[in-house]
Amino acid sequence: MPDALPTAAFATTDQHADAADIALEIQKLFVGYYEDLNILQGVNLKAQRAKITTILGANGVGKSTLLKAVYGFLRPNAGKVLLNDKNVVGVPTYKLINLGLAYIPQHPGIFRWMTIEENLEMGAYTFRGDKARLKRKIEEVYARFPVLKERRKSLAGKLSGGQQRMVEVGRTLMTDPSVMLVDEPTAGLAKMLSEEVYEMLVNLKNSGITILLVDQEIRHALKIADYVYVLELGRNKYEGPVADFSSPANLKKAFWA
Ligand SMILES: Nc1ncnc2c1ncn2[C@@H]1O[C@H](COP(=O)(O)OP(=O)(O)OP(=O)(O)O)[C@@H](O)[C@H]1O
Ligand SMILES: [Mg+2]
Repeated sequence: MPDALPTAAFATTDQHADAADIALEIQKLFVGYYEDLNILQGVNLKAQRAKITTILGANGVGKSTLLKAVYGFLRPNAGKVLLNDKNVVGVPTYKLINLGLAYIPQHPGIFRWMTIEENLEMGAYTFRGDKARLKRKIEEVYARFPVLKERRKSLAGKLSGGQQRMVEVGRTLMTDPSVMLVDEPTAGLAKMLSEEVYEMLVNLKNSGITILLVDQEIRHALKIADYVYVLELGRNKYEGPVADFSSPANLKKAFWA
């Protein structure tokens, strides 16, 4: 039997009053890597449409595990994952993609020995027979990221770290996602390149995409996020609008109270 639901460490602020505004909701999620040994123990979360919701927490608390469970890589032992109000637990990943979900994993996964354009074509795998759609989507990605068009024939492995992230995001955009799960997009990047990546995420949000962002770079994440969850050892520790984190004292309270 799963453990009892955790209570938040201190009062939470629920900004998500209107259910229609919620693109993704996680309810009492219990999931792990081995039978019923749960890494996440009853996590709750709501990601508001066309906003950036960030998940913070120390190494090993289960941030990546949560994204993998949402994307269908791990089968929850209990709980629900509602994508646009539909419970998608048990739905295979290729179908989740068709339902508008995209995932940028913690460890970058571009095809280094393929060109940028070939990488983008791989993003169209689920509709590979539809050449007209493929062409249209590639042009849309190029319109968003002109640098990728300029370098369309370059090997992806030759790009800067920031541009490689751009290729990954471009590849996921091929399937028209409405919700993107993004895991530590700037890990290992120089500061300037990180800023490009964060700017890209804000642009995606402004174009209507809901983003669930896991990040170790708390300072940066808080600059672009609208709503924040802090996890501790697989449980909800704190949640609130980003304004709650405006002072060092509040930040300390959210993490260590
Ligand atoms: N493939 C796996 N098999 C077994 N246990 C795993 C696996 N991946 C992660 N874990 C364990 O699950 C727990 C949560 O890991 P997870 O990767 O979700 O943490 P995280 O919050 O993303 O950490 P980080 O900030 O270091 O990326 C850790 O104890 C980790 O050792
Ligand atoms: Mg992780």
